[in-house]
Amino acid sequence: MPMKVTVIGLGYLGATHSVAMSKLGHQVIGIEQNPEKLAELQAGRAGFFEPGLDQALKEELASGRLSFQSNHNADSAEAEIHFLCVGTPQTEGSLAADTSYLYSAITDLAPLLKPGSVVVGKSTVPVGTAKALTEKLSNLTGFEAELAWNPEFLREGTALGDSLRPDRLVIGVNSALAEAKLREVFEPMIASGVPLIVTDLATAELVKGAANAFLATKISFINAMAEIAEVSGADASQLAIAIGYDERIGNKFLRNGVGFGGGCLPKDIRALMARAEELGVGEAVAYLKEIDKINLRRRIRVIDLLKAELGELSGKKVLVLGAAFKPDSDDVRDSPALDIALLANQAGANVLVHDPIALAGVNKKHPELATETDLHQAFDNADAVVLATEWQEYRDLDPKLIADKVNRKFIIDGRNVLDNSLWQTAGFKVVSLGKG
Ligand code: UDX
Repeated sequence: MPMKVTVIGLGYLGATHSVAMSKLGHQVIGIEQNPEKLAELQAGRAGFFEPGLDQALKEELASGRLSFQSNHNADSAEAEIHFLCVGTPQTEGSLAADTSYLYSAITDLAPLLKPGSVVVGKSTVPVGTAKALTEKLSNLTGFEAELAWNPEFLREGTALGDSLRPDRLVIGVNSALAEAKLREVFEPMIASGVPLIVTDLATAELVKGAANAFLATKISFINAMAEIAEVSGADASQLAIAIGYDERIGNKFLRNGVGFGGGCLPKDIRALMARAEELGVGEAVAYLKEIDKINLRRRIRVIDLLKAELGELSGKKVLVLGAAFKPDSDDVRDSPALDIALLANQAGANVLVHDPIALAGVNKKHPELATETDLHQAFDNADAVVLATEWQEYRDLDPKLIADKVNRKFIIDGRNVLDNSLWQTAGFKVVSLGKG
């Protein structure tokens, strides 16, 4: 049965979730206080690059099921479920997550709630947040508030598909009513066979931090092996293939290179460390400090390789291919590619950054970096090239067409995606991360 729901906070998570809920047939009211973001959404644009999302957004707006507004009103007060999708960024000057947007969202929401309306958190939060929010909400409403937690596992680049067909649905609930409402709203997904895990609030919150810590650990594990491979003549990519055949290990998330970035993995492992520390069990995840450090060392390694080849970087033109934290995304948050460009720039190089879609974000955040939209022109007189984000157009580059443009035929493959022999035949010296 279609339900009326609100989705509060329309960033990556909320915009995608509101479209997904509408696609399931629900009546969805998205609430976004940022006027520019709201205007974009009302015009059928998510405001960030996500394959298929703008198209789906336009279709759902046209269906009449989806609408966006800046604040709650009588219409949104009728919703049976309110999804909290606001951001929980890393706090400035600390590892901890900033949960203040959640508190302001429930303060705005409280006057609308009736006994029986269910508030469902989807944001990634430190374990214990849901309990604290429930208490706050009950104080504000004067009755026992129904708050549940339903973490989201979507990946950028495949966000809508991940929302509609997730590997699993996790719902943390305090009451039979909240469970029944969530089963109802996700009924089409459950009926299609998506596994459902019904648990308590704390477990539901922790699942997300645990999953991202595990994924980050896999990547840093293979990057740690890459450090050993580089000094011993081994090949970390082949090592990953070989260990990945063991089903207990698996071959996913074992691609070595410049490491992980984005709006989730780095901040989520830091938030988990901060929360464990607060709970007096910091040692349990102290190893994540090393995971973070291994990850950040990969960026420094690229700078060291540039210096080893070029000597002093000042006055040398370094072309960085990629700025987004991964392909099919224009997100430059905590991006290894962008960080490498900044580090090379700080070391005195004349850095030029190319990315098929993420340059607007670079120009806005880092006007000190020069950018180029024309890929072939970008190679002119380069002393070194760093492939830092594995966009398909970089994989498809023809080194023969580039050889005459560059000043020095030197390329660092930070993602292990190039055909080395092809580039070597064109006269390039190729350094692949993780290869001795
Ligand atoms: C991640 C989680 O995958 C997702 O479940 C969660 O909801 C949000 O965080 P996302 O940030 O979109 O999703 O990116 P993901 O595909 O996980 O990649 C994260 C980073 O790891 C990227 O910078 C990527 O380049 C890097 N990565 C990934 C590697 O370096 N090696 C790998 O083998 C895999």
